[in-house]
Amino acid sequence: MILTGTKEQLFTAEIRQKLDEWIAKYPAGQSQSAVIPCLHILQDESEGWLPQDVMDALALYLGMPAISVYEVATFYTMFDLKPVGKNKINVCTNISCMLNGSEDVVKQLELRLDVKLGETTADGNVTLREVECLGACCGAPMMQINREYHELLTPEKVDAILDGIKS
Ligand code: FES
Repeated sequence: MILTGTKEQLFTAEIRQKLDEWIAKYPAGQSQSAVIPCLHILQDESEGWLPQDVMDALALYLGMPAISVYEVATFYTMFDLKPVGKNKINVCTNISCMLNGSEDVVKQLELRLDVKLGETTADGNVTLREVECLGACCGAPMMQINREYHELLTPEKVDAILDGIKS
């Protein structure tokens, strides 16, 4: 899809204000440097994922090729390109977490949520995913729920944390 239009037509005033706050942090003419925080803003505004027309609109807004926006959005696991649950659980199974019991953490998550890795619960409340190291190896095994880290997990801790997730 080829999008055209003025900046005002691409996003609401409220969203433009949020995007512009980030764009203003970079030198004039370097708007594309704000692509990552802008993708976060737009993902939050789009029920947790990035439809292609939203990425296309951002490319126009930042004055960069759409392919460059897709490259960023597809590189990082923090961006989703298809619909997801209301809450995202990213469980790390990389080396430190694996050596400290991530297998049991995954088992407990799958049991409690009644999904496998990569799936979303039937009520659409949670998407469970396996991710590579999230840089919190000292707290292994760990998982991330939305933007929050939960560390030194045990199956019992997983239960308590899941009880606290809003539906
Ligand atoms: S290996 Fe899991 S956070 Fe680093």
